[in-house]
Amino acid sequence: MTVSLTINGRKVRRSVEPRMLLVHFLREDLALTGTHIGCDTSHCGACTVELNGRSVKSCTVLAVQAEGGELRTIEGMAHADGTLSALQEGFRQMHGLQCGFCTPGMIMRAHVLLKENPDPSEEEIRFGIAGNLCRCTGYQNIVKAIQYAAAKLAGRTFQEAAE
Ligand code: FES
Ligand code: FES
Repeated sequence: MTVSLTINGRKVRRSVEPRMLLVHFLREDLALTGTHIGCDTSHCGACTVELNGRSVKSCTVLAVQAEGGELRTIEGMAHADGTLSALQEGFRQMHGLQCGFCTPGMIMRAHVLLKENPDPSEEEIRFGIAGNLCRCTGYQNIVKAIQYAAAKLAGRTFQEAAE
């Protein structure tokens, strides 16, 4: 089957097997390997991408189901001039990663979370990322990274937001 969609602002058209998962399409056909595969069974969230404004686990979606869609992966998160997005900066500043395996999925999930709720409470952040697992950090600094990004996007600093 043919699938046409926009990925990170670029139009893409490819022939794919009907059974091909979106995550395999991204990684193998398009070399967008920032989207990770941690489990392949919809548990870990490492494969999370933004599809039509919603966060989806790309191991649970067929490539053909993204037909006509707007998709964003971690490769599409930095600004056009190469500077980091608020979330990427937040993960860096607040030490929100260790091995980094979960990080692309965490950032894509947090990106949609902040679009839906620009000023989330700590509890809302924890609930919002409940479908994304991290085996390293203990989550505390991931939560802080998302709080940092929320504050920055609102024109405040993390310290001001914490006061
Ligand atoms: S690889 Fe998709 S949820 Fe784990
Ligand atoms: S930083 Fe290693 S899995 Fe999250």
